[in-house]
Amino acid sequence: MALTPDVPTTFRPSQEPSARKQEYRGMTGRFEGRVAIVTGGASGIGAATVNRLKEDGARVLIVDRNAPASWDEEGACLFQADLTLPRAAAEMVAQAVERFGRLDFLVNNAGMGALNDPSDETDEQWFRLFAINIDAVMRGCRAALPHMRAQGSGAIVNVASISGLGGDYGMAAYNASKAAVVNYSRSLAIDCARDGVRVNVVCPGLIDTPMTAPIPGRERWHAAIPMGRSAQPREIASTIAFLLSEDASFMTGSVLVADGGVTATTGQPRSPNLRPLPPLTR
Ligand SMILES: NC(=O)c1ccc[n+]([C@@H]2O[C@H](COP(=O)([O-])OP(=O)(O)OC[C@H]3O[C@@H](n4cnc5c(N)ncnc54)[C@H](O)[C@@H]3O)[C@@H](O)[C@H]2O)c1
Repeated sequence: MALTPDVPTTFRPSQEPSARKQEYRGMTGRFEGRVAIVTGGASGIGAATVNRLKEDGARVLIVDRNAPASWDEEGACLFQADLTLPRAAAEMVAQAVERFGRLDFLVNNAGMGALNDPSDETDEQWFRLFAINIDAVMRGCRAALPHMRAQGSGAIVNVASISGLGGDYGMAAYNASKAAVVNYSRSLAIDCARDGVRVNVVCPGLIDTPMTAPIPGRERWHAAIPMGRSAQPREIASTIAFLLSEDASFMTGSVLVADGGVTATTGQPRSPNLRPLPPLTR
């Protein structure tokens, strides 16, 4: 069963507790004059990243096979493409350079999930998942690199997952594809470290997006997260924006986890002798 559902891009996450209902205020201008590509920018983490980069002053090329529900045409353009097609990544980079005259940031975010018993995995399912989760990432980086090297600067963030750092039940293909993103990015980072181009990885935990909307038993998932909740897409967008920014100027080849504490645990159970845990926040 595919975890990427056929749902409208207008999906809105569930309500947040009022304590966390603070609107983010962009650091106006820090990306003024910068140009970014965000793949998978029509939905979820990608859409939040587009908004965040625009708030910070960047012009953004949204690349997605779907059109976003809305976007501010002044700050962003849409390049509608299926990134599993071999030439799509090169074309998206050419579009960004043609429309905006340069390319500073690439966020390889488009991806899909899958849930399968390993004995049921078909070649078709495996290759379809790898085509978007890692092949498209490689092609995007390969196409962007000459421009970034030529200008002597650039930053790439590849969106992997905590599922790239360990195993999940029934998610072998996803785990393998995201682990490939992590280690591909490390190699790329050292190969272009002296060209002024930084490459980093974000590993989100459970985020409220259309991809995870169909997961049943939400409460059980939240209980397994030390912070007791999933995250909103903008909480990952801010991590991505940080890695793209000069605040991360000495970071390359880093794998930044944003998972509410999931990977900080060994997985061993909590002693009943400890104080009772505060209730889940959602
Ligand atoms: N949501 C989570 O809990 C979570 C956790 C860890 C990692 N991630 C990763 O974050 C990334 C974004 O996930 P999301 O939850 O925002 O998902 P999402 O389904 O909301 O958005 C994914 C976007 O990618 C686009 N896309 C998928 N295949 C494409 C293709 N072949 N060509 C062009 N565009 C394509 C989709 O149209 C969609 O707009 C993915 O790489 C995912 O693996 C998500």
